[in-house]
Amino acid sequence: MARINDSYLKLKAGYLFPEIGRRVKNFAEANPNAKIIRLGIGDVTRPLAPAVLEAFHQAVDDLGRGESFHGYGPEQGYDFLINVIIDKVYKPLGVSLKSSEVFISDGSKCDTANILDIFDLGNKVALGDPVYPVYNDTNVMVGRSGEADEKGYYEGLVYMPCLEENGFLPELPQEQVDLIYLCFPNNPTGTVASKAELKKWVDFALEKNALILFDAAYEAFITEADIPRSIFEIPGAEKCSIEFRSFSKTSGFTGVRCALTVIPDGVFGTNNNGEKIQLNKLWNRRQSTKFNGVSYPVQKAAAAVYSEEGWKQVKETIDYYMENARIICEGLKQAGLSVYGGVNAPYIWLKTPQGLSSWDFFDKLLNECHVVGTPGSGFGPSGEGYFRLSAFGDRENIQEAVTRIKTKFT
Ligand code: MLT
Repeated sequence: MARINDSYLKLKAGYLFPEIGRRVKNFAEANPNAKIIRLGIGDVTRPLAPAVLEAFHQAVDDLGRGESFHGYGPEQGYDFLINVIIDKVYKPLGVSLKSSEVFISDGSKCDTANILDIFDLGNKVALGDPVYPVYNDTNVMVGRSGEADEKGYYEGLVYMPCLEENGFLPELPQEQVDLIYLCFPNNPTGTVASKAELKKWVDFALEKNALILFDAAYEAFITEADIPRSIFEIPGAEKCSIEFRSFSKTSGFTGVRCALTVIPDGVFGTNNNGEKIQLNKLWNRRQSTKFNGVSYPVQKAAAAVYSEEGWKQVKETIDYYMENARIICEGLKQAGLSVYGGVNAPYIWLKTPQGLSSWDFFDKLLNECHVVGTPGSGFGPSGEGYFRLSAFGDRENIQEAVTRIKTKFT
């Protein structure tokens, strides 16, 4: 009989969002008349921008004609999309990239997980707590950790608590680490890092020969001036960082699937003999072997996000979600709750009232307000006593949810 990867058995619970889905399904079956408002998983609700949709349609039509048909595309992505990203996304930030440094993929979730393929198990990994669960769980899955302790910390991984006391910003690890996950704007806390804060990390990584895995999936939601949108805005980051970005939240592609990973040529790891090896080359080899690229119509649709018309429309939707975030923050503050995030990120991180545990608050909110959120403890032990609400809903639902919460908790 096939022997399994025992590391999977170390995982404490099911993946967070399916577990929430299971509880909500049970509740909905038992309460068929309840109008449930879902602000749990950060899934977009607004339709695709018209300019994006048009490009998508046209590209599908291309596939229906012999002269414009496309079969396999480049595993790394089409140049028409890569060049748009370099010119429209990175150049305005003062970041110059070569097309071979950008890899198009079907999602940042997959990329942040798959990147582990190119690293030795002996690397020490540091990650935030709370954190996007994928970073933690995929390191457990590949066998980089021991068992979890009673709090939920896996042996061998280095956790950096992000607490109210430190403004939900991780502190530099005291021990030698090799891979450091950073996510700004942060999922789940909505915190952002200033340039000075990111510089601290880049300097640390350069000094300690560590690599930063920077998840910038929510950069499009930054509203305040001077907050960096890319780690590569920080000098030296091009020697010690990999950046992940996504079209999912930026332009409503959670169901369409498109993302990108940037690995500058100046980023190296070492082999068994201590020789320096370019990570870009390894990732290219990995993608060419295990991935066949994102479909042509999806990449055409993604390129249209950054057309003049496309970006105007996409930005309207981003603003719509951020107005939702403002409504949630304001309403919860009026209800006397302690609220964080929601200014540069589509997530609101709140302290559970009455000292309730995250899951108890989840159940209370579901049972009494028919509102679904995400328990903070699902993102790590330091998330206990916190709760995340997503601003990706319809305005009417957001207003209704806030009214219900205010009525219950004021
Ligand atoms: C979340 O709710 O944290 C995100 O939707 C998860 C994801 O992007 O995979």
